[in-house]
Amino acid sequence: MRIDKLLANMGFGSRKEVKQLLKKGGVTLSGAPVKDAKTQVDPENDDIEIFGEKVEYKPNIYLMMNKPQGVISATEDASESTVLDLLETEDLIYDPFPVGRLDKDTTGFMLLTNDGKLAHQLTSPKKKVDKTYRVHIDGVLTKDQEEELKAGVVLDDGYKTKPAKLAYYNGEPETTVQLTITEGKFHQVKRMFQAVGRKVVALKRESIGPLTLDPDLEPGTYRELNDDEVELLRKGNL
Ligand code: URA
Repeated sequence: MRIDKLLANMGFGSRKEVKQLLKKGGVTLSGAPVKDAKTQVDPENDDIEIFGEKVEYKPNIYLMMNKPQGVISATEDASESTVLDLLETEDLIYDPFPVGRLDKDTTGFMLLTNDGKLAHQLTSPKKKVDKTYRVHIDGVLTKDQEEELKAGVVLDDGYKTKPAKLAYYNGEPETTVQLTITEGKFHQVKRMFQAVGRKVVALKRESIGPLTLDPDLEPGTYRELNDDEVELLRKGNL
């Protein structure tokens, strides 16, 4: 790949600005200044520095966000704020997109990446990747309602949901339940509870597959996943 293209893609300026930077001798390749914008480089193996700072090339980005209420999980919208509005420019240059959907009022674990293959793997119902939600409901479930949710309920459009896991949190009121599903139909969790006659009053996604939302992430903040976490996600459910 041409060095001017690489650096422009990585957000070091427009092609014109990068050319000027090269001319000034600000960029080195294996320690030697590189002035020709057409110089071919291998971004993954070559040692490129800008004013002595190593250029860390990575083809993919993986971000764990604690989505706050009030933003939508889309890449753009004419009137609403999106999860992308919460990202720094240095991350936006990788063109990440949200993996799956969370409603505007749902909080919690939103994964953003530019890795289409992993995104597909995590959202395809065939892969059966667990998504776990903390659900506040408007009353305590009966045993029958619990069993129905676990076995699969018929939603308002006639779709029967796949088996789910239901659990309670130690020391918390039974109006807070943990639901794990492997699908992601539109408003699925809310519609599942609606199907058994309960209303969801607050919803937070806690985990995707084997990865749980980092408790240090305040709503609206995010961090990059480390290599081990990305590997865990690739492997799917443990
Ligand atoms: N199910 C819902 O109803 N809403 C979400 O945001 C996610 C799952």
